[in-house]
Amino acid sequence: MAFPKTGRTAESLLAELEARKGNDVRWKEGRVFAYVYDAGPEAMETVKQAYGAFLTENGLDPTSFPSCLELERDVIAMALDLQNAPPGAKGSFTTGGTESILLSVKTARDHARATKPHITEPELVLPETAHPAFYKACKYFDVKPVVTPVDTEAFTALPDAMEKAITSQTVMLVGSAPSYAHGVVDPIADIGRIAMKAGLLFHVDCCVGGMYLPFARQLGADIPDFDLSTPGVTQMSLDFHKWGYAAKGASCILYTDGELRKHQIFAWSGWTGYTIVNPTIQSGRSGGPIAGAWAALNFIGEEGYLRFARATQEGARKVCDAIREIEGLKLLGNPPGNLLAFAAEDFDIFALSDAMKARGWYLQPQFGFGPSPANLHISVGFVNAPNVDAMLDDLRAETARLRADAAYKVAAHKPEDIAGIAAMDPAELLDSMSGVFEARAGGPGAEMRPINALMDALPHTARDRILTEYINRLYAKPQNTSGSA
Ligand SMILES: Cc1ncc(COP(=O)(O)O)c(C=O)c1O
Repeated sequence: MAFPKTGRTAESLLAELEARKGNDVRWKEGRVFAYVYDAGPEAMETVKQAYGAFLTENGLDPTSFPSCLELERDVIAMALDLQNAPPGAKGSFTTGGTESILLSVKTARDHARATKPHITEPELVLPETAHPAFYKACKYFDVKPVVTPVDTEAFTALPDAMEKAITSQTVMLVGSAPSYAHGVVDPIADIGRIAMKAGLLFHVDCCVGGMYLPFARQLGADIPDFDLSTPGVTQMSLDFHKWGYAAKGASCILYTDGELRKHQIFAWSGWTGYTIVNPTIQSGRSGGPIAGAWAALNFIGEEGYLRFARATQEGARKVCDAIREIEGLKLLGNPPGNLLAFAAEDFDIFALSDAMKARGWYLQPQFGFGPSPANLHISVGFVNAPNVDAMLDDLRAETARLRADAAYKVAAHKPEDIAGIAAMDPAELLDSMSGVFEARAGGPGAEMRPINALMDALPHTARDRILTEYINRLYAKPQNTSGSA
């Protein structure tokens, strides 16, 4: 698109924007079991209006926009209350789980710099199920990730392994409540005891669980201790834009000891312009996400979140029970909440995601890693719950169909082929597969199985290189054309 010479009417622009969603996953029908957190039209409209009302307000300067400051204080206070924080706890509103985690790792590094000068090469101990945002944080802030194994059946962290991984350079331990991939909760209380004994910070990644587990627990779900009252927990990431049903761009980082937050803040007046004092990564920032989160929490309230959790817990239990019974499928671990993953025992799981996609469902493919085989992830949200039975009918039918067809056995790649591909220059590899990736770059009917199977067979470092090259090309590709950019 060339830079426009003249403006266009709002009407034509908005119509075009709507039309451009044509190839997106169709989330409004409640058939997408990932990515989207939809509380229904009334709540979403309220969030939209609140977001719009604060679109232009600038959270950069809380003295010029006390409204943004007050909304943030409210939202953080509500999160601390929900997570049973001790007195003196504090937090910051951020743009998402990733930013919350980035800030937490930076805080851990800078806290160590200030209080433990012997630490020159800081390390973070994390189970292999921890979210990639921790690796991103380690890359950005030059911290070494020390990865520990998880239970090969339960997919939960092994506290002993984490304790053994602690060195004189360790700055923080990590646990998930729950992990995204399998939806299982790490033994937070045990890890907390280790953190206290070793005098370390301990981050509980509650990005996807923070606005869900407290309510599921209240309804009687068997969820181990995970919140800010758990001894040893020093910080937590919690996303409002997941099961808080706020608009995207809404998360927080919480500290049981508010003094820790100081390590996050960046101040700079050593230049010719206005003074910068940023508690988080952004500087100029719209008040929209804060207002949207504030509105979601107050519109839905405890009563509403309990109602959502009841519906989603029921839906998720149905899905888990069905998967345990469908021949050829295996539920991974024992997820107590609304996130789960399952593998195929004797056929290609990625053929199943394609088949379900053809029937209008989106189940999220996840590559095999460590003890976790290739699998499909399901997040059951409020609008998915009424569709669970229909989804399971199709899942049963497609599983039976694929298992009966020899063409859908797991694609066997020869080790030497995989080694050869892994060693290739990613640009050359993509050139040699001319158009294969591009042809599958989305669209409702795109068959992803061959690509997923190949990626799954590769070591993660090789697939990360290939996918980096692929995404770099994808964003450079002119619209409505095919072939490599
Ligand atoms: C456990 C966990 N941590 C971190 C994140 C990253 O959150 P975001 O996508 O908001 O950056 C996610 C996202 O799903 C998550 O599930």
